[in-house]
Amino acid sequence: MESRVVLNTSFNTGQIDPRIFSGFLEHLGRSIYEGVYDPESELSNEDGIRTDVAEAMTGMNMPYVRYPGGNFVSNYDWRDGVGSDRQPFPDFAWKTTDPNTFGTDEFMKWCKLVGTEPMMAVNLGTLGPAEAAALVEYCNLDTDTRWAQARRDNGSTEPHAVKMWCLGNEMDGPWQAGHMPAEQYALKARNAARLMRGLDPSIELIAAGSSGRQMDTYLEWDRTVLETCWDDIEFISAHRYSSNATNNTPEFLAEGVVIDSILDDYAGLIAYVKGMKQSDHNVYVSFDEWNVWYKARGGVTQDGKWGTSPALLEEVYNLEDALVCAQYMNSFIRRSDVVKVACLAQLVNVIAAVLTRPDRSLKQSIYYPFALYSKNATGISLTPVVSGPTYNVGERGEVNFIDASVSFDEKNGDISLFLVNRSVDQDSRVTIDLSDRKVTSGGSVQVMTGDDPKLANSWDQPENVVPSIGVSHLSDGVLTIEVPKLGMAVVTGVCTEEQ
Ligand code: AHR
Repeated sequence: MESRVVLNTSFNTGQIDPRIFSGFLEHLGRSIYEGVYDPESELSNEDGIRTDVAEAMTGMNMPYVRYPGGNFVSNYDWRDGVGSDRQPFPDFAWKTTDPNTFGTDEFMKWCKLVGTEPMMAVNLGTLGPAEAAALVEYCNLDTDTRWAQARRDNGSTEPHAVKMWCLGNEMDGPWQAGHMPAEQYALKARNAARLMRGLDPSIELIAAGSSGRQMDTYLEWDRTVLETCWDDIEFISAHRYSSNATNNTPEFLAEGVVIDSILDDYAGLIAYVKGMKQSDHNVYVSFDEWNVWYKARGGVTQDGKWGTSPALLEEVYNLEDALVCAQYMNSFIRRSDVVKVACLAQLVNVIAAVLTRPDRSLKQSIYYPFALYSKNATGISLTPVVSGPTYNVGERGEVNFIDASVSFDEKNGDISLFLVNRSVDQDSRVTIDLSDRKVTSGGSVQVMTGDDPKLANSWDQPENVVPSIGVSHLSDGVLTIEVPKLGMAVVTGVCTEEQ
């Protein structure tokens, strides 16, 4: 199969924000306890932090990690998770007993070790603007006031300087602690935003948008929130979890079409509100929960039965899941004008890139595309025009077998290409037609593929789905890349010069 990707550096959607390669950690199942933090494990440091897990996280090159939830945050009192008096509490969201031994200060230490920045979510379910502002005071202020002083007393002389803050989580969802109508949430979020920014004007704020396209109030909720909070926020959140519950691989592999249309939805809505307000201010999308999640979902997989670290949402990821994750990132890169933040949900044990046992950790298939993209998608996003064979995917329409995104580093002229082949049975040769520059070197190619879409890494076979070296050809300035069926290729270091 032959496809062509036409590019011109004048046709681009601007700078790719590195924050689209952020992650998400929630107090849920074995994510924190037995995941990132396990004082019992021989692999942990003196603070109880799992160093093998931290190292794997560093390899994901995430600028930000969202914390502590998720549904958890909407019934969490951060004050119970700092200082010396830590009492266990029953978490309404996941029916789990949280020992409260890992809290804000432990998370800040973890971020430093991993080389990432904290993105804190505040509880706008059972708590409100005052407690949210107190957390900003605790984290960011250097004043002689109660919570800033408490932070110093707890061992952090310097402020944590948390830049990014989420105003609650999925407050449109009836499952959420403190769920409320859009109008009520919007006012609460605006009050919280003003109090929080009043204490630290340098912070950036994310309002909770719809929890997904499946909601009856999808976009209507977001419109209300945007209209009320417009001048007080920088971002509105979007969430999606993809599913192949019908076991239809070709359809599942066309998931990128839906992700694109969600981004179109938000682009249109944001433009509408901005236009109606005749505003110079901009609001962007923070896609702060995205992943595949359907195998370990519902029923017992979500009921903690009041244990401290029950195995919840322990999804096993396979090859087709990794190819869908790559498409999420392709969509985010292509719409770099709309999406400035995105968080893989989640990182450890819970719908996770990395699984742990007391003595070992395992990288799942989805780990690899994330690490490849986050390290290489830098610069501006070129708009790829893909032509080639398509296939029919019912309501998703005629879909190109090749899904592509492209980054261009204006400083050195290097290009990186991110290509997914959705075909389950045909390899593809993709020709790159860069119309305004000359390719001088083909760079290097890494591919990830396999014969079976369900192929997954396991404790016994940890390298079933990992990247390997791929093939490109450069002849007379024309670059072609072999993208295997059921596979992806990441091409980096493609050197170009002006024609
Ligand atoms: O990531 C798991 C859960 O999915 C989060 O807690 C919630 O925000 C979403 O519904």
